[in-house]
Amino acid sequence: MTAAHLTARRAGPLKGVVRAPGDKSISHRALILGAMATGVTEIEGLLEGDDVKRTAAAMAAFGVGVERLGEGRWRVTGKGGFTEPADVVDCGNAGTGVRLIMGAAAGFPLCTTFTGDASLRGRPMNRVLKPLGQMGATWICREGGRLPLTLRGGALKPVAYRLPEPSAQVKSAVLLAGLNADGGVEVIEPEATRDHTERMLRGFGAQVEVTASGAGRRIVLPGGQSLRGASVHVPGDPSSAAFPLVAALITPGSEVTVEGMLMNGLRIGLLDTLGDMGADLAVTNLRDEGGEATADVTARYSELVGVEVPPERAPSMIDEYPILAVAAAFARGPTVMRGIGEMRVKESDRISLMARGLAACGVEVEEEPEGLIVTGGSSVRGGGLVTTHGDHRIAMSHLVLGLASEASVIVDEPGMIATSFPGFVELMRGLGAEIS
Ligand code: S3P
Repeated sequence: MTAAHLTARRAGPLKGVVRAPGDKSISHRALILGAMATGVTEIEGLLEGDDVKRTAAAMAAFGVGVERLGEGRWRVTGKGGFTEPADVVDCGNAGTGVRLIMGAAAGFPLCTTFTGDASLRGRPMNRVLKPLGQMGATWICREGGRLPLTLRGGALKPVAYRLPEPSAQVKSAVLLAGLNADGGVEVIEPEATRDHTERMLRGFGAQVEVTASGAGRRIVLPGGQSLRGASVHVPGDPSSAAFPLVAALITPGSEVTVEGMLMNGLRIGLLDTLGDMGADLAVTNLRDEGGEATADVTARYSELVGVEVPPERAPSMIDEYPILAVAAAFARGPTVMRGIGEMRVKESDRISLMARGLAACGVEVEEEPEGLIVTGGSSVRGGGLVTTHGDHRIAMSHLVLGLASEASVIVDEPGMIATSFPGFVELMRGLGAEIS
């Protein structure tokens, strides 16, 4: 195989204590809010993956001071506004980066052209453009609201926006634009999504009101507010921690601890689901780190059983269904995952690619328009060559599958893993995994 592939094969048990890389969602937000604020923001534990580095470069392109002080330590010096970038802002593979930055940029009287890699250029931006348009932003773009796209912002009107899809990216784009809208904004989300933007806005001195009603979660950001630079500690990403934890659950004799993992209740639906499947998971040292709960999570090899995942849990684990599907391949009986149509518009169509990859490895799998049913057993044949379409989570999920399969599993385009989990292969090897 060429260096453009990685192969995972079955070896001994996985053992050890690791730290997951910094949370991707919080890392993007720390850079963007720091850039919109006045004064100095010091960040520690920033995820230095490709997606987040693109956001750092974008903030510099908007005239903000961005410096790397050391590993995971960054300083952002904002002046309370953006200046017009001299060139195209390229967000690479990052949907969160481009959508949040569009929201932030819409608040200023600037013209910005955004683009991204082939995956990002294929993803829908209409979901963000719709509320920004209601606020008064204008744009020209490719058919279907695709990148490249040129956005003109400034002089925004207030909006009360009800999210048609459960998307924290859209919610965040509206809130960030709302910081510079005359009169503020209101967002109603029928299903609660990750709330890092709301929390962090408060940490930067803004007033944000959140109330629960029959219609869902109502978030009100009053107008006329400005942000002050702050210190941000970025906890370990539960979406990355999921890979070594599930690897331990399916590899006999294993015990792996991930330290300092974010325990925000809107992010850890996977732990509940794995618990329902009979996983031996221990959460210890629960603590508050910079306004977010964190803990150390230990997973020990477990005989899993299939479950029906409640569809309303989807927003709290939307990025974890690929690795859940791998756990399901080793669980007795069917695991039914429904209400996950959003997976089709991630870095790839993740329902389709998981179904194809698992089937190539001998796993019984059924694809539905908005669902996936995986019927597992005590062993998986493996042996597949998996097409990842450059999706980091598809690649890592199948490598974890290969660690416990009878025959090795090969994935293509492994370089994309660095978008969210630089050092993944080295970390897994340190636990005893055979990946080459
Ligand atoms: C994210 C929100 C989710 C998630 C993505 C990160 C965020 O996307 O899939 O990886 O940081 O706000 P959606 O908002 O599209 O659901």
